[in-house]
Amino acid sequence: MQLFLDTANLDEIREAADMGLIDGVTTNPSLMAKESGDPAGIIREICSIVDGPVSAEILSTEFEEMLKEATAVAKWHPNVVVKVPLTADGLKTVHRLSPQGVRFNVTLCFSLAQALLAAKVGAAYVSPFVGRWDDIDTPGIELIPDMVQMFDQHGFETQILVASVRSPLHVSQAALVGADVATLPLKVLKQMIGHPLTDIGLAKFLADARGKN
Ligand code: G3P
Repeated sequence: MQLFLDTANLDEIREAADMGLIDGVTTNPSLMAKESGDPAGIIREICSIVDGPVSAEILSTEFEEMLKEATAVAKWHPNVVVKVPLTADGLKTVHRLSPQGVRFNVTLCFSLAQALLAAKVGAAYVSPFVGRWDDIDTPGIELIPDMVQMFDQHGFETQILVASVRSPLHVSQAALVGADVATLPLKVLKQMIGHPLTDIGLAKFLADARGKN
């Protein structure tokens, strides 16, 4: 399974990339708003750090404007994946531009029905949000096994990119059920590395070694 970092912060991306743990990056308007600089420059800098898919979300919501913005954003860098919301105009934009080679990540997906439509229009990725379901007391991860089964059953090439990840458990559960990608904050990536028994074990090894010498 591929791991993407869910941030627009260059320092966070460099830190994760240096560990060799990320295959791509996803951003969104909220994450971009936290960073200074022009969006195109930030995305191009991210593409220079991580040699993989980098999702950049457009802000237009009407079809004609989405067409223009998506076409422009796709030209920022060959690794750019244009992010559009799962709306009628978003699906129409994917349907129109995918045959021209523009890759799309259809985001803000919260149901199997929505994911089916994103696959039908030829999205490269669909982003089911799991954490935001959890935020309203519904286990969002439970959507993923059915989505994987539905995509496998119908031979959809769209990759399932599990998003809105809140914990290492989300990541391992997504991997267990066969999601293609999980995108996660650096905080969660670091939580995946740490374990108290590892720390205790290492401390004992070092203490024993010191005691021996
Ligand atoms: O960037 C898409 C998604 O991962 C954002 O999730 O719920 O943490 O804002 P959230």
